Amino acid sequence: MVGSFDVLALDSNINGTMKPLPEDFNSMAFIRDHVPHIVGENGIGNGGAQNGTENGERKIVLGRNFHTTCLEVTEPNIDDEVTGEREAYMASVLARYRKSLSERTNYHLGYPYNLDFDYGALAQLQHFSINNLGDPFIESNYGVHSRQFEVGVLDWFARLWELEKDEYWGYITNCGTEGNLHGILVGREVFPEGILYASQESHYSVFKAARMYRMECVKIDTLCSGEIDCDNFKAKLLCHKDKPAIVNVNIGTTVKGAVDDLDLVIKKLEEAGFSHDRFYIHCDGALFGLMLPFVKRAPKISFKKPIGSVSVSGHKFVGCPTPCGVQITRLEHVKALSRNVEYLASRDATIMGSRNGHAPIFLWYTLNMKGYRGFQKEVHKCLRNAHYLKGRLVDAGIGAMLNELSSTVVFERPHDEEFVHKWQLACQGNIAHVVVMPNVTMQKLDHFLHELVQNRALWFRDGKARPYCIASDVGHQHCLCALHT
Ligand SMILES: Cc1ncc(COP(=O)(O)O)c(C=O)c1O
Repeated sequence: MVGSFDVLALDSNINGTMKPLPEDFNSMAFIRDHVPHIVGENGIGNGGAQNGTENGERKIVLGRNFHTTCLEVTEPNIDDEVTGEREAYMASVLARYRKSLSERTNYHLGYPYNLDFDYGALAQLQHFSINNLGDPFIESNYGVHSRQFEVGVLDWFARLWELEKDEYWGYITNCGTEGNLHGILVGREVFPEGILYASQESHYSVFKAARMYRMECVKIDTLCSGEIDCDNFKAKLLCHKDKPAIVNVNIGTTVKGAVDDLDLVIKKLEEAGFSHDRFYIHCDGALFGLMLPFVKRAPKISFKKPIGSVSVSGHKFVGCPTPCGVQITRLEHVKALSRNVEYLASRDATIMGSRNGHAPIFLWYTLNMKGYRGFQKEVHKCLRNAHYLKGRLVDAGIGAMLNELSSTVVFERPHDEEFVHKWQLACQGNIAHVVVMPNVTMQKLDHFLHELVQNRALWFRDGKARPYCIASDVGHQHCLCALHT
């Protein structure tokens, strides 16, 4: 297979013997394999030619850009148990994989995942197939579940977002995407004729929901910060006054970490003549839903306001070995969605059927270990470190932006995709970002900055390439390209 990496390959010849594994395992080899093919000839913006594009856009070709490594599966030999060869091979592969995971963890900055957690105490539970299928509040006939933990976690979040125990419904999802799919579905069930409004910088799952549910979807302009443009929102509402509004509000956009002004969104709905029984607001708090409550001067996310649901990812700020999330909505709304299922002896109101029963225990464990104050401390550390990174980038002459309520530092896209892959940066057009999570220390940021500055000197050495212009992404005041310095 193209790009497969022989250190991890099992010789698939007829007798299935295993190649000895070389000692000099180089986990960076994976990175090189993941460098996408460059299509086209010109760079974009005013930068150089290293990031190939076609018609000004980077092209991703399905199935061709990423050559993933492949660990072939081979059938065990009859005498494997006697020789112990297979067991030794498996142990060796896993040990090397573990080493590469540690290495990759050390060089991760671009995605909003807190990679610092210790769930060693829960290792004993790995032997159980814990599944919370069905409704968290109704015991199904399947007894190997963790509903008691799930409901404990949900109660904590309902309290955080100010909804009484007997007025909320929720569940632990597989991820923030599932929370969005659920929140928007509840909105659609409450208002089957409703139009979905979402800013153009909303996460792709919001538009996916619109496609899946065949909903009419109106995209709203954004400000340079990434926040929803509320004047444009009102103008678009006024064009569709005859239909109820289902609104996605971003509590931290994916790329720029922008927080939509919930109060202003509600005000614009009211000004446009939408009474509270004519709109449904879903708050997508995938990353920042759990950070915002601890940020001073931040707008408050609360069910005391006319909102319908809030979702957050569990593996992001909290940190978790498996993706997960939390979805909270009003009990009265979920009734529109749920159906009885005799086979489960439960009610079906979730997107998925089987549900990860380990995830609620991870969340419950961290909530207990860190508590409200622990999260508060970590949020402040993230914001402080994000400010440090942004300041150092600007000091080094690199255009950068940091929204006031965010720990997502946006800056000019590096000119070398290998550098991008080494640090696992998330890029879009001319910008890249680092999301400062609790595991991102100042030392790590110093290491990254040092390498970035050194590499930039090489990229721009002969004057053929120049830093990208990021003015149209984040505003000219944050851009330090040749034109805007
Ligand atoms: C704003 C926003 N919403 C939703 C999601 C999806 O979350 P998940 O990756 O947990 O599905 C993300 C992911 O980064 C996000 O940034």
